[in-house]
Amino acid sequence: MKQLVFLLCSCLLIACTDGEEASPYVDGEDLYMTSCSACHGSDGRGSNLGPDLIWDVGEQTHEGIVETILEGTGRMEPVDVSLEAADAIATYVTEEILIDW
Ligand code: HEC
Repeated sequence: MKQLVFLLCSCLLIACTDGEEASPYVDGEDLYMTSCSACHGSDGRGSNLGPDLIWDVGEQTHEGIVETILEGTGRMEPVDVSLEAADAIATYVTEEILIDW
């Protein structure tokens, strides 16, 4: 019986951590595509509405990007997303877009 309980717990634990690891990444990409790509391009290379993130963000920290998203910067208006979403987007930007060039 103890073993069964243990097994059940491990399964739950794995299921939980799996979900947590997978969602920010997927959400970040999805959210980037919906909220940012119109101006910054789907590959972060920018458009005539927004600058190339690969050049501009090189020195920005994760927190800096979250702040930019929530508060805007210069000509960029704040983007209407939750802190959690901004965090996921920043992860996507720093881990995928900035590395993939
Ligand atoms: C309506 C167009 C538009 C949208 C949508 C938009 N941006 Fe921007 N973004 C801009 C413009 C324009 C600037 C340049 C601001 C300036 O320096 O005047 C900018 C600047 C930035 C910067 C700062 C670059 C630097 O110089 O430090 C970051 C980071 C950034 N955007 C990320 C994002 C992210 C992430 C999203 C999606 C959540 C997003 N932007 C959505 C137009 C946009």
